[in-house]
Parts: sequence; structure tokens; C-alpha cells
Amino acid sequence: MKYLIVGNWKLNPTSQKEAKVLFDTVKKGVGKAKNVEVVLCPPFTYLAQLKGLVLGAQNVFHEDKGAFTGEISALQLKDMGVKYVIVGHSERRKYFGETNQIINKKLKKVLHAGLTPIFCIGETAEERSAHNIQEVLEAQITQGLDGISREDAKEVVVAYEPVWAIGTGQNCSTDETHKAALLIRKIMSNLYPAELAKNLRVLYGGSVDSKNATSYITEAGVQGLLVGGASLNAQEFISIVLNI
Ligand code: PGA
Repeated sequence: MKYLIVGNWKLNPTSQKEAKVLFDTVKKGVGKAKNVEVVLCPPFTYLAQLKGLVLGAQNVFHEDKGAFTGEISALQLKDMGVKYVIVGHSERRKYFGETNQIINKKLKKVLHAGLTPIFCIGETAEERSAHNIQEVLEAQITQGLDGISREDAKEVVVAYEPVWAIGTGQNCSTDETHKAALLIRKIMSNLYPAELAKNLRVLYGGSVDSKNATSYITEAGVQGLLVGGASLNAQEFISIVLNI
């Protein structure tokens, strides 16, 4: 299976023109990458105009259609040609009050639409200092995947994104990431067959850049990366992809 490198542009850039330049530069630069699947997740408003790389969305609503002003559904994203959807990002949990229960509904809709969710989990700095990582990841995974069949669960990609490492320049050590990835597989093996837990794709995210990216693949043993800030710099993101 190819490594998965996902660029999460968040609320950037502020014009279609900049979005197209960034996208096309990345597209050209990563053209030679062989063992990597590159996915870019721009804001919704740019999805229609960006072509030639696999697209992901940064969020989704948990209903397919109806009177939900301002929302976007998994069916609409599928119709746009989107393949991946980031679900449960810590910024959604923090600023938009997304609970494990809301995230669970979103994951179900994404899976039922035939899209691949990138299910984000991770502990805050306080939870880490209180040695609560296992408890937090267990609750996020168990509640997030509640009622999701093994058939659907095998499509899920889990992104381990410790909240304290996001956008801080304080990336998680490869040793700690390795331990978290093992823990995630263990939690999954309590919910699903061992084979599914073994084959699960786990990504790391949190202050990934071109200097530290490769070590997560070679030392932490993850199957890919979720890149925020560094994905807004085309050369930096291209280096991450080409060095894998
Ligand atoms: P960062 O963001 O790479 O800027 O730390 C990662 C993310 O939020 O997915």
C-alpha cells in the first residue's frame, strides 16, 4: 500500500488565484512520486476548480440533505469528485464543539457515501501531562466508531494528531508517535478483528515539515502524514512527498 500524504490547507488561501497556483505547483512537483498517494484538502469553495490530484474535504455535515443552512453533505462532496474527508479535526472539536457523538454521525455519512474518512484523534497538552493518553484515545476511537461495521471500519484512516503538536513547531517524537500508533491498533483490535487492526492506516500529524517528515515513516512506522502549515508552502510540501 502507498504512503498517504495529506495536505490540510485549513482556512487558506484567501483567493481562487492563490489556491490554483499552490495546487498546480504541488501537482507539478509531486508528479514523480511513486510510493505516495498525495491528497490535498482545500477549503470547500476551491474544490470545483482544482483538478489533477486527489481531493479531500476538511469537514462534512452529518445529514445528506435538507433544511441545514450553511452545511455541506457527504453526497455533495462525492458528487464533486472528492475522495477523502477529514473528520474530527481538533480545531473542529475545539472551536465548533464537535463531540465524539457528532464525529460518529459524520463518519457514518462519509462511509455510506463511499468516501474515505481521515478520522483525527489525539490528546491535549493537559491530558498528556496527566498521563491520560490511553483513556482519551480509547474514548475517541470507541465512541467515534460506535455502530460502524467491520466492513466500513476497514476503510477508515486514523490520524494521530496530538493537539499540543498542531501548529506549534513542537512535533511529537517518533518514539511517542510509535507508541501511540501501537496503542491505536490495540484499541482497534478490541473492537474489530485483529486483521483489520493490523491493516489499519495510521497517519501522524502535528508540525510536520520537510526535515522531520521521513522519520515518522522510517522510525514511527506510520503509513502517512497529515500536514497543515507546511502544505501551504509548495516547495516544502513537495520535499515532504519526494523524500518519502
Ligand atoms: P500543522 O497542522 O502541520 O500546521 O501542525 C496539522 C493539522 O492540523 O492537521
